[in-house]
Amino acid sequence: MTFPVSRPRRLRRTAALRRLVAETRLSVDDLVAPLFVREGIDEPQPVASLPGVFQHTRASLRAEVSALHDLGVPGVILFGIPERKDAVGSEAWNPDGIVQVALRDLRDDLGDDMVLLADLCVDEYTDHGHCGVLDGHGSVDNDATLELYARAAVAQADAGVDVTAPSGMMDGQVGAIRTALDDAGHHQTAILAYAAKYASALYGPFRDAVNVEIVGGEDRRGYQQDPPNAREATVEVGADLEEGADMVMVKPALAYLDVITDIRASVDVPLAAYHVSGEYAMVAAAAANGWLDGDAVGMEHLLAIRRAGADFILTYLAGRAAEILQG
Ligand code: PBG
Repeated sequence: MTFPVSRPRRLRRTAALRRLVAETRLSVDDLVAPLFVREGIDEPQPVASLPGVFQHTRASLRAEVSALHDLGVPGVILFGIPERKDAVGSEAWNPDGIVQVALRDLRDDLGDDMVLLADLCVDEYTDHGHCGVLDGHGSVDNDATLELYARAAVAQADAGVDVTAPSGMMDGQVGAIRTALDDAGHHQTAILAYAAKYASALYGPFRDAVNVEIVGGEDRRGYQQDPPNAREATVEVGADLEEGADMVMVKPALAYLDVITDIRASVDVPLAAYHVSGEYAMVAAAAANGWLDGDAVGMEHLLAIRRAGADFILTYLAGRAAEILQG
């Protein structure tokens, strides 16, 4: 007697069947759009290496965020490009600094209907492009930098940020920021820690977007994680949670799907992944050449990041993906 055999193709026969048995779903609710706002410009400036991405004026940022809100995107993360940079990045905590004024604009426009996140680092604000203050040897001084992050976090919270997202990979940054926020009475301001952030070449186009050139000193390998190390990500995440992180992130996403899966298995807080500038640029460039279907590949990327275990995704595809998901 022969037994009936399982025939997996039976469940792939129609789109409705495939939809029914899908193990992973991607929703507009899972998307956060990274946005750039630049001080002192009158017109939005396109970013050459990120087609479709702009350095916004305050006004064009408001319009973009309203459009994203209408598409159902639940959150945006802001990056600022100041007119003046200095050795310590003081525009990062200026109450009238570009991100702080933009946060106030967006809160006025949208109230609590949009989650406002802000990247917390000083590389966009320092004249040398590093994520902190340099010591006499060209190395980023960890503990001196923590004081700058604490000030910037309080400035962002004063301006109404919902979630501050420290991305500098300094040891102890989450604890320093949590203490500073609490001391300033900002108990409700949440922290999304860029906990496992790798020293990746995939951030290249981002540095165009924020006009950052790293001049002198060590490269980011002295503070960002080394790509060969996956177990170390668990250590980084554990430290950030102990220091008070509310959510953690893995970055980049696609080249680190194993890390996303590992972290998902080891923690129960919300887990984000950042589909970074280089990941977006590769798809956009190939699509522009007609070498692949940019929309299809983009959606496949986002689905893969969800399948690996991320709850939500920071992605330059947020607006486009929301349009596609709305059908
Ligand atoms: C640091 C920061 C970077 C990115 C996000 N936050 C750049 C870096 O670490 O060099 C990269 C994001 C991307 O590539 O899309 N402020």
